Amino acid sequence: MEIDIRIFENHDYDRCEELVNEAWHFDKIINDKNLSTTALRFYTKGGLCAGNINLVAVNHGKVAGFLFGLNTLAKSKPRGKIRFAFDALISFNFKKMDKIERDVFTKALTDHNKNRTAIEPGTESEICLFVVSQDLRGKNIGTKLWEKFRDSCITSGVKRIRVEANKLGASNFYEKLGFTLVNNFNSPLHEIAIPGGQACMYEYICDKT
Ligand SMILES: CC(C)(COP(=O)(O)OP(=O)(O)OC[C@H]1O[C@@H](n2cnc3c(N)ncnc32)[C@H](O)[C@@H]1OP(=O)(O)O)[C@@H](O)C(=O)NCCC(=O)NCCS
Repeated sequence: MEIDIRIFENHDYDRCEELVNEAWHFDKIINDKNLSTTALRFYTKGGLCAGNINLVAVNHGKVAGFLFGLNTLAKSKPRGKIRFAFDALISFNFKKMDKIERDVFTKALTDHNKNRTAIEPGTESEICLFVVSQDLRGKNIGTKLWEKFRDSCITSGVKRIRVEANKLGASNFYEKLGFTLVNNFNSPLHEIAIPGGQACMYEYICDKT
């Protein structure tokens, strides 16, 4: 299969959002339409703004997957975080949506971030958001995206790369790539997306000497 890995360009955004919805079904797990489109947008944009090595895998001209990653030692820095935070604040507070469902969602997000920060202060290089199209999974596209990101980190001198995962999601995939478990944490946000799945933090050591 012909796969080209290249840097994310703005015109790729809508397809990436589509892939995120395909993976976590925002349109099904959140009833209120405005809330689900807003949550999907900010989840995808959040990953994009957190990353500075944002890669897409292209198959026959169509984005088949993407990896938004943070390499803390790369020259380019993540962009648009302040604008992102401002837009999120306005959208969640002023868009017409079911207030009860919105409050449940934003509390889940706040508690998730608090519990995650307790085990991961957020200073390491990391995979921020990573999805391959459902119909093209298991064909090595994820591995190719990962290798490109990992190599950029190694070239920059990064020692470790972290990723947040779910035991019922991609944990086994990361273990196959050589990641090891750092810690589990409680996440009401994961519970909404993957009921019964344990949220966890994994780590890849670049310099194994
Ligand atoms: C995780 C994901 C990006 C992997 O992409 P992919 O292109 O399917 O991965 P690859 O084809 O390179 O898989 C490499 C190996 O891992 C295995 N693998 C892939 N995803 C797996 C998963 N979720 N659980 C267990 N094993 C998995 C593959 O079977 C393959 O095994 P093999 O080498 O024995 O054949 C993709 O499954 C996905 O988008 N999942 C939904 C979103 C998600 O969970 N993203 C990660 C967020 S932390």
